[in-house]
Amino acid sequence: MGIIFSESTKEFHLYNDKISYLMRVMGNGQMGQLYFGKRIPQKKDYGYLIENRYRPVSSYMFDDEYSFSLEHLKQEYPSYGTSDYRMPALEILQSNGSRITNFQYVSHKIYQGKLALKGLPATYTESEEEADTLELLLRDELLQVEMTLLYTIFQKENAIARSVRFENKGGEAYQLTRAMSLSLDLPDDEYEWIQFSGAWGRERYVKTRMLQQGIQSVGSTRGASSHHHNPFVMLKRPTADEFQGEVMGFSLIYSGNFLAQAEVDTYKVTRMMIGIHPFGFSWCLEPGQEFQTPEAVMVYSAEGMNSMSQTFHRLFRTRLARGIWRDKERPVLLNNWEATYFDFTEEKLIKIAKTAKEDGVELFVLDDGWFSTRCGETSGLGDWWPNMERLPRGIKGLSEAIEDLGLKFGLWFELEMVNKDSELYRKHPDWIIHTPGRHESHGRKQYVLDFSRKEVVDYIYEMVAKILRESKISYIKWDMNRNITECFSEGYGAEHQGEIFHRYILGLYDLYNRLNTQFPEILFESCASGGGRFDPGLLYYAPQCWTSDDTDAAERQKIQYGTSYAYPVSSMGAHVSITPNHQLNRTTPLKTRGNVAAFGAFGYELDLARLTSEERQMVREQILFVKKYRKLIHTGTFYRLLSPFEGNFTAWMVVSEDKKQAIVGYFKMLNDVNREFRRLHLHGLDQESIYHLWEDGEGKGAFYGSELMNIGMVTTDNAAGELPSDEEPCSDFWSRIIVLEAE
Ligand code: DGJ
Repeated sequence: MGIIFSESTKEFHLYNDKISYLMRVMGNGQMGQLYFGKRIPQKKDYGYLIENRYRPVSSYMFDDEYSFSLEHLKQEYPSYGTSDYRMPALEILQSNGSRITNFQYVSHKIYQGKLALKGLPATYTESEEEADTLELLLRDELLQVEMTLLYTIFQKENAIARSVRFENKGGEAYQLTRAMSLSLDLPDDEYEWIQFSGAWGRERYVKTRMLQQGIQSVGSTRGASSHHHNPFVMLKRPTADEFQGEVMGFSLIYSGNFLAQAEVDTYKVTRMMIGIHPFGFSWCLEPGQEFQTPEAVMVYSAEGMNSMSQTFHRLFRTRLARGIWRDKERPVLLNNWEATYFDFTEEKLIKIAKTAKEDGVELFVLDDGWFSTRCGETSGLGDWWPNMERLPRGIKGLSEAIEDLGLKFGLWFELEMVNKDSELYRKHPDWIIHTPGRHESHGRKQYVLDFSRKEVVDYIYEMVAKILRESKISYIKWDMNRNITECFSEGYGAEHQGEIFHRYILGLYDLYNRLNTQFPEILFESCASGGGRFDPGLLYYAPQCWTSDDTDAAERQKIQYGTSYAYPVSSMGAHVSITPNHQLNRTTPLKTRGNVAAFGAFGYELDLARLTSEERQMVREQILFVKKYRKLIHTGTFYRLLSPFEGNFTAWMVVSEDKKQAIVGYFKMLNDVNREFRRLHLHGLDQESIYHLWEDGEGKGAFYGSELMNIGMVTTDNAAGELPSDEEPCSDFWSRIIVLEAE
């Protein structure tokens, strides 16, 4: 791995064993993009990749020639209006109304390791050898604004982390109205664009289309990364698939408004960018001040989508997530939400917890409704003290009682919100995000606290820290149930209103950071009406996230499958719930509910006492299984095998690093009758090893790794319906988990 700078050609080559990234100072002093892809040799001069030609109806930069047009050049961090007409990576509004800029190369720094980004989540290194960083300094002489392009290449991953820092060295203030985290001009448009989109209850569905001339984009303007789109997209060659071919993944480590966009121009150049959504954004860059963009990570794989995902999984699990819970086995939890909703007493909770303990649960989580006057949606948010009528011993007493049962105790918060029916709102009505003189829209009767203001964050911190200090709390579920409307802060003047969405997220990160630092033992799980803020920004503070409010085992296959393109299994909160399912009214076998949730941060979302004794026995077995294999499931290499978006089956597997163990999850949606003989091709095993297969504790034969990968594992099921058999009959939403142990 390294970063090479050639003084004579002004070329930069970032490389490791697998990938290369090339750029160069162009004739106009700006940075040109040459290549991103599979590793290529270090060569003296790749200048031929700067392709400039005469083209009709173009504009040219130099007075005495007709070829140097930014419209035709592949650039590193482009601006609009000086011969390039495509969407720019940056825009700066100046006091005379101009938005024209010209950032030229000044100098650079190369160093080992990676520095933290102030106030923002980012990937990190644990030793200097793990990565090299390049800081490219560019300056606009007229404005006296400096821009630093940051690039970190990881030694062992096909990944480059990028971000940009602006610094105003001049004497005048500017409005930064666009500052993407990453821009990449690719030389052709032969890609499928794959996005992860949906809504509440159906987050991160895989959606694919071919790139076309023009702009294709996804984004969020809701103040959160959103249920609707995820700050992650892929560009895939049409011939590539899960196991072979060229794929690039682009991920933004950020939890607020974002834009991911590909613009294909008439010469088939694809300009890919990702960053804070420029819509409504402007940052007042006063003299002497800096602005740091969030970090974006781009991953290149020549071996298909699984390999790209595995890179993101390793990076996000081990070099984005932090703290003691990063590597610790996650507790099997039981959350009371779907068991009681708001209807509980201390006695009822203790009963539920006791049953859970009997079956092997390790952590009891009390969800919404425990504080102030909160007995429904309309009141109490903002007042984080226990409702002593419901919980006579308070959270302190309840948490101690739960610990006395031999369980850990976890608690739900929604710290960013307030109901108008609350003491907090009555005291500080100006602390909500709202526009003076305008109607204040609500969501679930709640309003968003103005986290762009430090005094608001301080106040909330003190309240929550008090409870955490006095009670035995091992886990926090951090919920967020509405998006921002009428965005405006009473704490800032007119010239700063375009900053509020971003300042809000900085306030959120600050609160998370303070709580992480003060209470390092607590495991955080983020949540936003399910998976409305499942993004890498929050994984930095909370290593797991409630993947979706939809706990139906069939729907969850799609949601977890889609989520797995960027996010590790260990980050996906996944619970077994009661049937008929509360979101879909569907009944699926308990076994399948357990088998789907096993590929996540596992738990239950029901009162186990409502199950039959046979079901309770199955729950006990599920918990034993999860405890035995959770380490492997969370840290193993994850492969998607069959997609629920493409057929009646879902299959995925994890393989341990030493390839000695593997676990396959195989799920059928609707039962089918008298169908073909089926084989499932496994991946990632050792060719030569003999693997013993186990299903529900029963041996299912021994096979070479190469047999299971090349011939496939026979999965023909007992769906003929007619013939007697001692096999378990198949049903709708049927599933199997097969454990492989090498000899
Ligand atoms: C939305 C979450 O996604 C649910 O799990 C639950 O915590 C409710 N909020 C509580 O209001």
